[in-house]
Amino acid sequence: MPLTIVIGTQWGDEGKGRIVDLLSAEAQLVARYSGGDNAGHTVTVGRDIFKLHQIPSGIIHAHTVSVLGNGMVINPNTLSAEIDLLTQNGIHVSPQRLAISHAAHLITPMHRLLDQAQDEARGASKIGTTGRGIGPAYVDKAARRGLRAQDILDPASFREKLTAHVQDVKRQMQLFFGSDVTDEQSLIEEYAAKAISLAPYIRDTGALVRDYLSRGMHVLAEGAQGTLLDLDQGTYPYVTSSCTTAAGVFSGLGIGVQQAGRVVGITKAFQTRVGSGPFPTELLDETAGRLRGSGANPWDEFGTTTGRPRRVGWLDGVLLRYAVAVNGVSELALTKLDILSGFSVIKICTAYRVRGKDYEALPDGLQTQQMQTYQPVYEELHGWEGDIRDVRRWEDLPSQAQQYVHRIAQIAGVPVRMVSVGPEREQVIYLA
Ligand code: GDP
Ligand code: IMO
Ligand code: MG
Repeated sequence: MPLTIVIGTQWGDEGKGRIVDLLSAEAQLVARYSGGDNAGHTVTVGRDIFKLHQIPSGIIHAHTVSVLGNGMVINPNTLSAEIDLLTQNGIHVSPQRLAISHAAHLITPMHRLLDQAQDEARGASKIGTTGRGIGPAYVDKAARRGLRAQDILDPASFREKLTAHVQDVKRQMQLFFGSDVTDEQSLIEEYAAKAISLAPYIRDTGALVRDYLSRGMHVLAEGAQGTLLDLDQGTYPYVTSSCTTAAGVFSGLGIGVQQAGRVVGITKAFQTRVGSGPFPTELLDETAGRLRGSGANPWDEFGTTTGRPRRVGWLDGVLLRYAVAVNGVSELALTKLDILSGFSVIKICTAYRVRGKDYEALPDGLQTQQMQTYQPVYEELHGWEGDIRDVRRWEDLPSQAQQYVHRIAQIAGVPVRMVSVGPEREQVIYLA
């Protein structure tokens, strides 16, 4: 199948960027289909650590074309900075290598202000958004008043639409939050200049991706966020504002569903979450500190985009099975197995205890209110001693680590095809 879909099976930060980097070696085109610069995808290549927010992780491979699909919301300011940073680090970025969908929506500084003010106003029930303006940009899209990439192509009318949008949000900020936006003229000018500089990248990316697929080229769809942050399938309202699951690929890129074949679910060997919302297997003891790390290593559990410490816990098998079903996952790539080295006991949640009864599947669907009361039922597995970061062959993994991987595949009901034992390109074990 020429299309491979990569999605996160948890609450984001599963290591999608790291796996997309590996799979990109075999792909001709790599596309993001949802979200915006709320994503932070880390790719480690030797001494270089790339943190990608909007551009697909495939850009690191010189032979690939990168697409920002119509399902995305794009911030011209941060995208320009991302292009500059990549260029400074020796990655060639040009309109031949990077295409922005004419139908993608734009995030403005006003969306960011609104996002931050709205989340702050939620008080104790705040979502803990990344503050990047994602929600307000998708609200404008759904309300059919959004700015789209194609608007940039007519600079005079773009400035008019932008000015109307800025005035509109300014009024909202005054009315609802009592805060004024001053100096909006320079905001408009700076933003318009950045946006207009992206004009050469804008094209009909749907036609481009369909053309690649029709010629049998290998297309990789890079998911952002994770299944449990999906607007419909996630832990609403503690979700992002886009379709993060595999279904989003088709509307977010403009391709037919018959292209679906391989769906790779990226699963971290334990559970993490940034921001608020239910987390049945969350740990708050010293085990949490061990799983999270101190922040000294680049892979420690602190947000790539916001730097916030991530909440951590044992792997949730109930939610993993749910993610496999929702996305039609055909195989898993397991990441960060190395972090579990040295634990004498490793736990996996295999069921929830609800009203005195154990359920292996969500008893009432993914309902945020109810989930807060679910008790995780754990299975305990033996851990292993010693570092596994240099292991490259399955048979060289400690038997307890093999057992853990086997058990995850059994619970998920799909095979694990890749096991990542470190952030570096070569720190991976392929399974038959
Ligand atoms: P993404 O948003 O799903 O792309 O994931 P992030 O990049 O936000 O977070 C994953 C972090 O774990 C990054 O710092 C990666 O470099 C790192 N990482 C990925 N796989 C592994 C692994 O197998 N072991 C270790 N130690 N770190 C990993
Ligand atoms: P990647 O692609 C982890 C979370 C935020 C918040 C919620 C809504 O790196 O896995 P938003 O700013 O999208 O309105 O925030 O979603 N969130 C992520 N958490 N990884 C991400 O992306 C995330 N993108 C958004 O923390 O809880
Ligand atoms: Mg991330």
